[in-house]
Amino acid sequence: MNNKTVNIAIDGPAGAGKSTIAKMVSKKLGYIYVDTGALYRTIALYITENGIEDEKVEEALPGAEVSLKFIDGEQRVFLGDRDVSELIRTPIISMAASRTSALPPVRAYLFETQQKIARENSVIMDGRDIGTVVLPNADVKIFLTASAEERADRRFKELSEKPDCPSYQEILDDIIQRDYQDMHRETAPLKQAEDAVLVDTTHLNLEESAAEIVRIITERIGSAD
Ligand code: DC
Repeated sequence: MNNKTVNIAIDGPAGAGKSTIAKMVSKKLGYIYVDTGALYRTIALYITENGIEDEKVEEALPGAEVSLKFIDGEQRVFLGDRDVSELIRTPIISMAASRTSALPPVRAYLFETQQKIARENSVIMDGRDIGTVVLPNADVKIFLTASAEERADRRFKELSEKPDCPSYQEILDDIIQRDYQDMHRETAPLKQAEDAVLVDTTHLNLEESAAEIVRIITERIGSAD
């Protein structure tokens, strides 16, 4: 790894607050925040839109042209020249991404993309296998979690303003199913790296969670100021 870049890995289950918290921490420390879930979601959108069967995925992937751009520090994800950053956030694509991210050709395809970004930039990268597979030599690894009930409750509050909001129970069932799929797949399952620091946010708000992570990072690599 290039000595000048700092790589922070944040892994954990869906709904633990990884992206919101990682964004807050990256602003504070001046690193680029990379949401790798968005890459898996974009591949899922590509597979879904084009009705690609599992056994055809490997040959179809080079045609996907997935790329990330950082506009005013915000990550946007593109399929060809189409910005799909919003389109990938539907429950259907969440479930599709959980399924298609288990396909080995999908993981192999995105592995390189993620490593290249981390080689060239100081990053806080969040995902499921960043500390275990993508950046095994990351400077700091965090495993961020919260109880399934707390994660469902947060998601329910977030969605309750929107039309067609699913019930709390539906959200909880969805989270439990996605946790199971993410933890039990054969390739790069979600698990805490041996050298990762566990941060449980069940009883912490966003600010407390972000402060705790900044504390862990600065303790390990010194202050970014
Ligand atoms: O973090 P998210 O919910 O946006 O991720 C969408 C799906 O992608 C999730 O079900 C697991 C998968 N994923 C993965 O397998 N590896 C990553 N590094 C990031 C996400």
